Amino acid sequence: MMQAAFHSNLDKEFGLITEFWSPRVVAVANGQYVKVAKARGEFAWHSHADEDEFFLVRKGTFRVRYRDRPDVVLHEGDFHVVPKGVEHSPIAPEEAWIVLVEPAATKHTGDTVTDLTKSIESQIAHLR
Ligand code: NI
Repeated sequence: MMQAAFHSNLDKEFGLITEFWSPRVVAVANGQYVKVAKARGEFAWHSHADEDEFFLVRKGTFRVRYRDRPDVVLHEGDFHVVPKGVEHSPIAPEEAWIVLVEPAATKHTGDTVTDLTKSIESQIAHLR
């Protein structure tokens, strides 16, 4: 695992994002990636068989849709953990800024591949 910056600023990192639904790794700690992403519109339905997924909303409103339980609506400052193995689909009616924490191996669209899928390599390319 590469050496990542250990000192930055959250909003500065958001400022470097140019694409929606394209996670940017901003820190690595204990085998976990801390990522920032800008969300707008709908994201693909997917699940992560072995990984929980932590979401924190920095700005805007973000909804996590589920098939088997009520949706969770997150406002600025709210956080939520999507349990492993549970199918979910994020949606942001307007631009939202999201912080994610997940194991380095987690694929953001799970085993589903869509036009929005970004490789882990592309998410960490700027740290190399
Ligand atoms: Ni997910």
